[in-house]
Amino acid sequence: MSNPLVLSERHGPIHRLALNRPDKKNALTLAMYEALTAGLKEAAADPAVRSVVLEGDDKCFTAGNDIADFASGFSEEKFAPIFHFLEAIHRFEKPVIARVHGAAVGIGTTVLLHCDMVIAGESAKFCLPFTNLGLCPEAASSLLLPRLMGHQRASELLLLGQPFGAQRAHEMGLVNYVLPDADVRDAAWSAAEMIARQPAASVRLTKSLLKKGQADHVSAVMREEAIQFGQRLSSPEAAEAFAAFAQRRQPDFSKFE
Ligand code: COA
Repeated sequence: MSNPLVLSERHGPIHRLALNRPDKKNALTLAMYEALTAGLKEAAADPAVRSVVLEGDDKCFTAGNDIADFASGFSEEKFAPIFHFLEAIHRFEKPVIARVHGAAVGIGTTVLLHCDMVIAGESAKFCLPFTNLGLCPEAASSLLLPRLMGHQRASELLLLGQPFGAQRAHEMGLVNYVLPDADVRDAAWSAAEMIARQPAASVRLTKSLLKKGQADHVSAVMREEAIQFGQRLSSPEAAEAFAAFAQRRQPDFSKFE
């Protein structure tokens, strides 16, 4: 599905998926998830594609889910594009390299758990504000984050929901390299090109072996989180958080048990 807010294009052996909604910090609408899933499908089906670069722009990766979409009422069918995208990137067989500048909020951070390499600029700022919004983890982050960095660090990120910088993300294993912003694009493309020059069957096999042990478990956790997440979207706490965002004020959760 073509969508000007997601650029999906092949450059030789590399498929580029670029978020292109800079005025809204690349916040992801449901239609953008559909476009991302379609882009992954296209890249999967094209034997000439050897790797994928997932990126935002030079100022921002993504501010995460579009909060207006979240605030517009939940139904399983309506929000299915988010979960289809997550399953698609989780099951995608070719390597995905993420390039991150600026904000990577919510799914902007959790999607990185499903990428194979992450190259971040010094400006990168990650955040998992799910509890801050009255929500809960998604993208199997409740499983993958503690596996990556340990329970205490994952709990801190998920319970406090405070932003953290590229260096901390690197220390915790979420990011491969932190580079000056001006060098990140070239580094991400050069990693994608190096992979593209490797024997494709060997690359696919290696990725599948790396993921195989936990692939079904990850899908099951994503499904469970999605059910809880859907319920939380209709919660009064979430309504307060979304209203606070729209009104540019701090939310007040003190009245909720
Ligand atoms: N959904 C919808 N719109 C969003 C958005 C989101 N997640 N994030 C940013 N925007 C919009 C803002 O409303 C603003 O729109 P406007 O110019 O029409 O008022 C525009 O993008 C610029 O955002 P702004 O907050 O002014 O930019 P900033 O540089 O000061 O801050 C962020 C950038 C990403 C730190 C901040 O926008 C933010 O915290 N966004 C919300 C992130 C979030 O909670 N995501 C959900 C995760 S589950």
